[in-house]
Amino acid sequence: MAEPAFPWKVAWITGASGAICGEIARRLASAGVTVAATARPGGKLDELAASSERIKAFPADVLKPDELKASVAKIDSALGAIDLALLGAGMYVPFDIRNIDLDGFHRTMALNVDGVINGIAAVLPSMLARRHGHIAIMGSLFGYSGWPGNGSYGASKAAVINLAESLKLELQGTGVDVTIINPGFVDTPLNASYDPKKKLYAMSKERCARKIVEKLGRKPYEIAFPPQVEGFLKSVRSLPRAVSFPLIRWFTRKMGA
Ligand SMILES: NC(=O)c1ccc[n+]([C@@H]2O[C@H](COP(=O)([O-])OP(=O)(O)OC[C@H]3O[C@@H](n4cnc5c(N)ncnc54)[C@H](OP(=O)(O)O)[C@@H]3O)[C@@H](O)[C@H]2O)c1
Repeated sequence: MAEPAFPWKVAWITGASGAICGEIARRLASAGVTVAATARPGGKLDELAASSERIKAFPADVLKPDELKASVAKIDSALGAIDLALLGAGMYVPFDIRNIDLDGFHRTMALNVDGVINGIAAVLPSMLARRHGHIAIMGSLFGYSGWPGNGSYGASKAAVINLAESLKLELQGTGVDVTIINPGFVDTPLNASYDPKKKLYAMSKERCARKIVEKLGRKPYEIAFPPQVEGFLKSVRSLPRAVSFPLIRWFTRKMGA
């Protein structure tokens, strides 16, 4: 099926060598968008760039702000101004409260939070100067609510959900749109260590990318799915804590957590 037409000429995607963002990159390219694909240098990024003449690799480490700024400048001069920045580089590590993996926690917060703000800092000045642009951040449904075993990833995604709210409010009237993208479980290498029995309503990367791509062009503030998990986590969050905590404990024990 043909992809819909999109409101961007040039999209910059971080985490483009990964499962979900790679799939998004291919879909945007096949619909005529020029994609600047960023990840650390490597075979997967090269393979993605080789898959379409509309995808160009701009290798960089999102943990290095100067490298990202230099990449954005290169993209601007090689492909034209960036209309969409999709900040998708991310990782997951398990979290065991009795044996806290401090290194894993710090790495997750660095990539999932610092990596996002580094991308915003690199691209926002030129968007503001042009009074035009769209920043989309990959969050997760697990940023909505604390969840046993999810202390690192959940905290990092809660941080970017909050950051996106600040951006949305501050950028109103500037011509720069903001979208937070919160999928549920997607079968990708990112969460391969997660117990498959606990992956509620897990979906394929193709389905996830299709849902994102279908909605992103309308520039909504929030894209969240699947609705069953979104509805549950948002409802739980809005309940008094005296109700929500026992409910989550009951639910996660039922799932074997
Ligand atoms: N899978 C899920 O269930 C799920 C659900 C909701 C949200 N998400 C979010 O969606 C995004 C993509 O997830 P995914 O499952 O597709 O992950 P993935 O396949 O593991 O991809 C992760 C990407 O991050 C890049 N990356 C890692 N460290 C980097 C660094 N220092 N600099 C630049 N790029 C770096 C990786 O590229 P290199 O290693 O090649 O540099 C890769 O492209 C993440 O933000 C994730 O949290 C995933």
